[in-house]
Amino acid sequence: MANIKHIGVLTSGGDAPGMNAAIRAVTRTGTYHGIEVTGIYRGYQGMIEGEFHLNLKKSVSNIIQRGGTILKTARSEEFKTKEGRKKAHHQIQKLEIDALVVIGGDGSLRGALEFSKEYDIPVIGLPGTIDNDMYGTDSTIGYDTALNTVVQAVDKIRDTAGSHNRLFFIEVMGRDAGFIATNSGIAVGAEDILIPETETHIDELIKWLQHERRVNKTSGIIIVAEGDDAGGAYEIARKVEEGFTEYETKVTVLGHIQRGGPPTCNDRVLASRMGYDAVMHLLSGERSKMVGIVNNRFVLTSLEKTGKRAHKIDKQLLEMAKVLSS
Ligand code: F6P
Repeated sequence: MANIKHIGVLTSGGDAPGMNAAIRAVTRTGTYHGIEVTGIYRGYQGMIEGEFHLNLKKSVSNIIQRGGTILKTARSEEFKTKEGRKKAHHQIQKLEIDALVVIGGDGSLRGALEFSKEYDIPVIGLPGTIDNDMYGTDSTIGYDTALNTVVQAVDKIRDTAGSHNRLFFIEVMGRDAGFIATNSGIAVGAEDILIPETETHIDELIKWLQHERRVNKTSGIIIVAEGDDAGGAYEIARKVEEGFTEYETKVTVLGHIQRGGPPTCNDRVLASRMGYDAVMHLLSGERSKMVGIVNNRFVLTSLEKTGKRAHKIDKQLLEMAKVLSS
């Protein structure tokens, strides 16, 4: 067993439902093993500014079901600098924190790796982002909840779309990845799904809509990933309207609703298991790794790999979605 006495835990980047469940799991597992656990507020920025939540174990009751993060989060530009990381190190040294658990997206875990190398401190990362765009895991904390939020919202839009014979372009989050769009699109039976990983051709989309019209579809849903190469939902809707006027078109941007709300059962279990594993791995001497789930097994991947690439979307799913909606 590695001699770890004091773990610092932080959430960084965009918040994601399930982060609280992960914080709770890290805290409870650490405490169970006689380790002190301190929360670091506002991610790396809070670490730089010395904003700590001492004795976190008193504050993790009743949070497993809550969205957001009790530790708050931030995207810190200062931590990207050597000087910023030096200040952060100085702050945790004062508390004698000797290991870190970082919950966040790929940028946050890149920062974790840099810090761990520079100051020789063991760090375990947990993938926390709704975007699901991380290498080393099939699913990130928050992704399942975001998908379910999108599905619930689009089901409602489908009702009104059908009543008015309208074509809706619905923009979902994901930054430059199309995971949320692809899987929510399949789940709502979207007429088409536009993602950054494939080139979007407006003329092909129009041809497809003409086909849908011929087979008597009176309304439709097009899911647009916010990072699509042809633009956001407003821009794509405008381009389609120029060449195709048979539907009245409407646009909905779902926005930050996708980041909030109570985590789903899947996200709570995923976050709990990952949080537990993070502490157990630190105790067994692991460092600079991320816990992930691959083919239903919890695995560790080197942080060197997780920061550089995302796992791939199966593009055949887009074809399948079209067949199923035709
Ligand atoms: O990475 C999570 C995410 O919600 C992305 O899907 C989105 O592009 C981005 O964060 C939005 O960031 P912010 O909340 O800073 O506007």
